[in-house]
Amino acid sequence: MATIFIVVVILSRCMNLADQLPEDIRGENYTGAATCVKCHQDLSKSFAHNPHGLTSKLVVDQNLLSIFDPDSNTFKFNQNEKVVVEKRPGGIFQVAYSKDHEVQSQRFDVAFGSGEKAFTYGYWKGKKLYELPLSYFPAIKNWAISPGFPSNTYYYERGITSRCFECHGSYVEKKLIQKSTFSVDEEMEKGSVIYGIDCERCHGPGKEHVVFHMENPQEKSSKFIAIYKILTRKQKMDACGVCHSGNALMQHKSVFDFKPGDHLEDYYEQDLAGFGGGKPDVHGNQTPMLMNSACYLKSENMTCQSCHNTHESIKGNLAVYSQRCMSCHKTTNHSKQTLSKGMLTANCIDCHMPKEPSKLISFQMAGKAEANPYLLRSHHIAIYSTGSN
Ligand code: HEC
Ligand code: HEC
Ligand code: HEC
Ligand code: HEC
Ligand code: HEC
Ligand code: HEC
Ligand code: HEC
Repeated sequence: MATIFIVVVILSRCMNLADQLPEDIRGENYTGAATCVKCHQDLSKSFAHNPHGLTSKLVVDQNLLSIFDPDSNTFKFNQNEKVVVEKRPGGIFQVAYSKDHEVQSQRFDVAFGSGEKAFTYGYWKGKKLYELPLSYFPAIKNWAISPGFPSNTYYYERGITSRCFECHGSYVEKKLIQKSTFSVDEEMEKGSVIYGIDCERCHGPGKEHVVFHMENPQEKSSKFIAIYKILTRKQKMDACGVCHSGNALMQHKSVFDFKPGDHLEDYYEQDLAGFGGGKPDVHGNQTPMLMNSACYLKSENMTCQSCHNTHESIKGNLAVYSQRCMSCHKTTNHSKQTLSKGMLTANCIDCHMPKEPSKLISFQMAGKAEANPYLLRSHHIAIYSTGSN
C-alpha cells in the first residue's frame, strides 16, 4: 500500500511539474528558453547578447530610435523618388515619396540580423511578411538599399518567407495555399514566431530534461538532452550545417524539426531541378567551404567547434582564434619573406582566412555608383597569394 501511495505521489508530482512548465508552440516536448535560464544562468546571460539569440526580433521603437538620425534618414533614389525613415504615431515607418507626394508607407515590424553587419526589416500585411526597401548598415552608420533590391526605385513587394526564419529564428507556423496548379502561396502566423535562435533550436526539445533535473536536483550529469561531445563528426557538422550550408539545396522537410544527432540529408536533397532561383540569397555557407580545406580533409576531428564555441564571445579576437590554429599547427614552415611580415602567431587569420566579398549580397548607398561589399571570412582555409593584408 505504502509503496503504491509513494509511486502515485511521485507520479502526480511529475505530471504536475510537466504541466506547470510554460507551454511552447513547437510541441509538448518543448518548454522555451525562459525555463532553461533557471538552471543555466551563465550560459543564458551570454546568449542574451549572442548573435544567434539576437538574429531576429520584434522591432521595439526604442531600439530603433537609437539609430534614428533625422539628419540621415532620407534615401534618394533619383531626382523624384526617395524613401524617408519617419517616426509617426503607431511606430516608425519607411515612407516612399514621388515628387514629394507620399505613395507608400510601411512600419518596421520585424528585424533580421543581430546588427553584426546589417539589419534588414520586414512588415506584416495580413499573413505575409515583406521586406522593407532600406536596410541599416552599422559599418557606414547609414541606410542602404536592401540586398538584391532594384537600385533605381523603391520596392515594397519582396516577400520574406518562413525560410528566413528557419535560419534566423526558432519557429513560425506556416500554411501552404494552393493558388493554381503551378503556384503555391505561403501564409505565416504572426503570433507564432519564436524570434532568435533559442536553446531548444540548437539543443532539441528539453522539457523531459527539465522535469528530470527538477525531480533529481542531486543528479549532476545531464539526462534527456543530446550530448554534443558524443556525436559523430558528421553529426556535429550537420548540427551547424543545418543553417550554415547555404540555401541552394531543395528541402523536403522543415528544418525547424532538426535536432542534434539528425542527418542533414534527411531534410535536404540535391537541387537537380534548379529550383534555386526564387529563393533567398545564399549567405551562411561556411560548412562546404571548410569541408574543402586541407585542415578538414586531412585531420580526423576538425569541426566548427574546433574554433567556435557558440556560448562564448570572442568576436574579433583573432589572437584567440590563432591559438586554435596552433593547437594543431604547433610548428609551421613559413618562408623568410612571409615571416618578415610579422605578427605570425597573433594573426594566422587574415592570411589564411581572408575576408572576401559575397558574390550575391552587396549594399547600394545613395548617390554612389559602386555598391559596398558584404565581407565574409573565407572558411576555405588555404594559402592565398594575396594573404598578407
Ligand atoms: C532543473 C535544472 C535544469 C533546467 C531547468 C535545465 N537544465 Fe540543462 N542541465 C541541468 C543539469 C544538472 C545538467 C548537467 C550539468 C551541466 O552540464 O551543467 C544539464 C546539462 C545540460 C546540457 C549539457 C549536455 C551535455 O552533457 O553535453 C545541455 C545542452 C542542457 N542542459 C540544455 C538545457 C536546455 C536546452 C534547457 C531548457 C529547455 C535546460 N537545459 C534546462 C539542469 C537543468
Ligand atoms: C547556436 C546553437 C546553440 C544555442 C542557441 C545554444 N547552444 Fe548550448 N551549446 C551549443 C553547442 C554546440 C554546445 C557544445 C559545445 C562543445 O561541446 O564544444 C553547447 C553546450 C551547452 C551546454 C554544456 C555546457 C558547456 O558550456 O559546454 C549547456 C548547459 C548548454 N549548451 C545550454 C544552453 C542553453 C541554456 C541555451 C539557451 C540559453 C543554449 N545552450 C543555446 C549550441 C547552442
Ligand atoms: C538555426 C540556425 C543556426 C544554427 C543551428 C547555427 N547557426 Fe550559427 N548563425 C546563424 C545565423 C542566422 C547567424 C547570423 C547571426 C547574426 O544575425 O549576426 C549565425 C552566426 C554564427 C556565427 C558568427 C557570429 C558569432 O557568434 O561569432 C558563428 C561563428 C556561428 N554562427 C557558428 C555556428 C556554429 C559553430 C553552429 C553549430 C554549433 C551554429 N552556428 C549553428 C544560424 C545558425
Ligand atoms: C541557410 C540559412 C540562411 C537563410 C535561408 C537566410 N540566412 Fe541570413 N544569414 C545566415 C547566416 C549564417 C548569416 C551570418 C553570416 C553569413 O552571412 O554567412 C546571415 C546573415 C544575415 C544578415 C546579416 C546579419 C548581421 O547581423 O550581420 C541579415 C540581415 C540576414 N542574414 C537576413 C536574411 C533574410 C532577410 C533572409 C531571407 C530572405 C535570410 N537572411 C535567409 C543564414 C541564413
Ligand atoms: C584540427 C586540426 C587543425 C586545425 C584546428 C587547423 N588546421 Fe590547418 N591543417 C590541418 C591539417 C591536418 C593540415 C594538412 C597538413 C598536411 O597536409 O600535412 C592542415 C593544413 C593547413 C594549411 C595548408 C593548406 C594547403 O592547402 O596546403 C594551412 C595554410 C593551414 N592548415 C592553416 C590553418 C589555420 C590558419 C588554422 C586556424 C584558422 C588552422 N589551419 C587550423 C589541421 C588543422
Ligand atoms: C579553423 C578555425 C575555424 C573553423 C574550424 C571554423 N571557423 Fe568560423 N570563423 C573562424 C574565424 C577566425 C572567424 C572570424 C572571426 C572574427 O572575425 O571575429 C570565423 C567567422 C565565422 C562566422 C562569421 C561570419 C564572418 O565571415 O565573419 C561564421 C558564421 C562562422 N565562422 C561559422 C562557422 C561554421 C558554421 C563552421 C563549421 C562549418 C566554422 N565557422 C568553422 C574560424 C573558424
Ligand atoms: C603574412 C601572412 C601569413 C601569416 C600571418 C601566417 N601565414 Fe601561414 N602561410 C603563409 C604563406 C604565404 C604560406 C606559404 C609558404 C610561405 O610562402 O611562407 C603559408 C603556409 C602555411 C602552412 C603550410 C606550410 C606548413 O607549415 O605546413 C601552414 C600550416 C600555415 N601557413 C599555418 C599558419 C598558422 C598556424 C599561422 C599563425 C600562427 C600562420 N600560418 C600565419 C602566410 C601566412
